[in-house]
Amino acid sequence: PTVEKIKEKGELVMLTNAAFPPFEYVDGSEITGVDVEIAQAIADELGVKLSVTNMDFDPIIDYIKTGKGDLGIAGITANEEREKAVDFSTSYITTTQYMILPTGVDGATFDPNGKIIGVQQGTTGDNYYASDPEVMQPKEVKRYKSAVDAAADMALGRVDCVIIDEMPAKAIVANNPDKMQAYDPGYDKESYSIAMMKGNDSLKQVVDSVLQKLADEGKIEEMIVKHTSN
Ligand code: ARG
Repeated sequence: PTVEKIKEKGELVMLTNAAFPPFEYVDGSEITGVDVEIAQAIADELGVKLSVTNMDFDPIIDYIKTGKGDLGIAGITANEEREKAVDFSTSYITTTQYMILPTGVDGATFDPNGKIIGVQQGTTGDNYYASDPEVMQPKEVKRYKSAVDAAADMALGRVDCVIIDEMPAKAIVANNPDKMQAYDPGYDKESYSIAMMKGNDSLKQVVDSVLQKLADEGKIEEMIVKHTSN
């Protein structure tokens, strides 16, 4: 939907998967996090109310492509494959994939080949790493609805390693420090962007200018600190 249509309906619909702290997570009955605050700033700029839809991560790109929401804001890594389906804003975070390992396992010598790897279905941790035989040949890839679920299964000994984005990995580990640790395997950098329907240039302009302003004012850093210390 164009900016005009969004203003007409008085509502900006954000699609996300709120099991990805500090970017989006459920706090009591509220969905909050860095991405939700960014979406709120965009809604404020448009003068409309923000509505947040919590759904599985995997179909978000397709939902945005077919207009079932205005913005996909879910720590989404912009890449060529997804760019075929949606347009992306400028990037607002640069990060990388991490491993969550049980405590006592040495990350530096951990070999994912022949192991059971847990991922969130449809993420880059799934597509670029666990499911790419040129990168690793696990015994099995277990795909979960969230990295939180994958890590919980690792704590039960059903998975050897979880691959997920750096900051969520650290947040999950912080909640279970006696059982798990976060390890940086030195994978490539990835950048998060906001997904929009293709050709929606009026909306992209607003989104990019809000992101620029938030970055210039150091607000994104502040949001990360705020939602990390929670
Ligand atoms: N950055 C990764 C990707 O784009 C993972 C994103 C998962 N986001 C979420 N809200 N669960 O595939």
